[in-house]
Amino acid sequence: MSAAANVSPAVAKPAHVPDSLVYDFDMFRDPAYVADPHERILDLVKNAPPIFWTPRNGGHWMLMSHSANFNASRDTESFSSEFIPRAEMAAMKAKLPPGMPHIPLPVPINVDPPEHSKYRTPLQRVFSPKSILALKDSINALATELVDSVKDRGNCEFMKEIAEPMPVRVFLKMLGLPLDRQDEYREIVSQHLSDPSSDARAMIPKLQRIAASMNDTFIARRDNPQDDIISMLWKIEIDGKPTTIEDMQNYGVLLFIAGLDTVMNGIGHGVRHLARNPELQAQLRANPKMVPEATEELLRRYTFTVPPRMVAKDIVFEGVQMKARERAMLFLPAADLDPKEFANSDRYDLNRENKVHIAFNAGPHRCLGSHLARVELQVIYEVLMARLPTFRLDSQRPPTFHCGHVVGVDSLHLVWDV
Ligand code: HEM
Repeated sequence: MSAAANVSPAVAKPAHVPDSLVYDFDMFRDPAYVADPHERILDLVKNAPPIFWTPRNGGHWMLMSHSANFNASRDTESFSSEFIPRAEMAAMKAKLPPGMPHIPLPVPINVDPPEHSKYRTPLQRVFSPKSILALKDSINALATELVDSVKDRGNCEFMKEIAEPMPVRVFLKMLGLPLDRQDEYREIVSQHLSDPSSDARAMIPKLQRIAASMNDTFIARRDNPQDDIISMLWKIEIDGKPTTIEDMQNYGVLLFIAGLDTVMNGIGHGVRHLARNPELQAQLRANPKMVPEATEELLRRYTFTVPPRMVAKDIVFEGVQMKARERAMLFLPAADLDPKEFANSDRYDLNRENKVHIAFNAGPHRCLGSHLARVELQVIYEVLMARLPTFRLDSQRPPTFHCGHVVGVDSLHLVWDV
């Protein structure tokens, strides 16, 4: 069966969407996108309208331009992050028979302002630049151990051997989850994110599965607190009330998804670029102080998350008529390749004037883990430059990718001379 045969069926276009704004793109399975995501995004940036409607995956909007993404992410009255209306959620919860698992609501990400801040504020301290800086030495030690374990071999499958274990171990330790269940947690989160379902209700059993996988740790930390995020969350108050097991599940599901499937893909995109550009490796080896700015330009050039929104009311947004309850994807990877915002946007350019990307989004939901992510990305690039000779892609085994709300790297075979 050809890859194109796997594309989701097209649905009929709603009457208010003009033909000129319809563009056929499957954000989970478009064959060219899955083959080389950011090449395909450049092609879309050039050829698709700045905001378009695709008939795939149930039909939804794609916001392409930088201005559309920036403005929509800040306009939470028009673009909501609450996919199941509050009244419906309350009714579903009220109908749950006794003993049935709670329906987790990922907080703070799926709560709109003003309620949003009461869930975001307690997390701010844990992810502050100061708290994260304190972890830098241990992250460095872990990265060094992982790179040294493959160094003498002259090759590795970088995702499985380094990009995945590094951030996943850092995060499980921060959260307080057992390291020996790493493979099980990763499997749960990859399955969750690969689901192209257009109905938020279909995600409920998956969220319940994530919550269930952490429940015994929640209870253990409530009874025996340690120095980790789960123990810390038991000590906070939300609306003046002590945390409940339901609150723990609400926080837990989001942190689990955000912490376990982001940094590894950022590392994968960045290291693939380095492997294809030996002159950049040479530049960074000669001047390691450039790593932080090199990291920022890698984040811009290979922005890789696509947060969803629900249109909250009938609106005309940047000249486009949208109706309440339609879905809109913040296609941040396209925003950061918009030539109106970044001149020669396809070029990796350490000297570009505008360096302010939105890989972590903008507005109230801007990534809380960005300081942690930046430290991890910088550390792995520094360690690779310091401990490996020039590495390149294995020409026999090209990289493979997956697409969706996280555009990720599945495999990345590297080789170097020993
Ligand atoms: C390079 C890695 C990462 C990228 C590119 C990234 C990207 C993003 C983006 C784009 C958002 C906004 C989502 C939206 O608007 O709906 C977000 C939110 C969030 N991220 Fe990250 N993230 C990364 C790593 C992390 C890590 C390691 C954590 C730690 C757990 C984390 C925690 C969060 C949280 C808690 C939110 C929700 C913030 C809120 O709703 O107020 N992220 N992230």
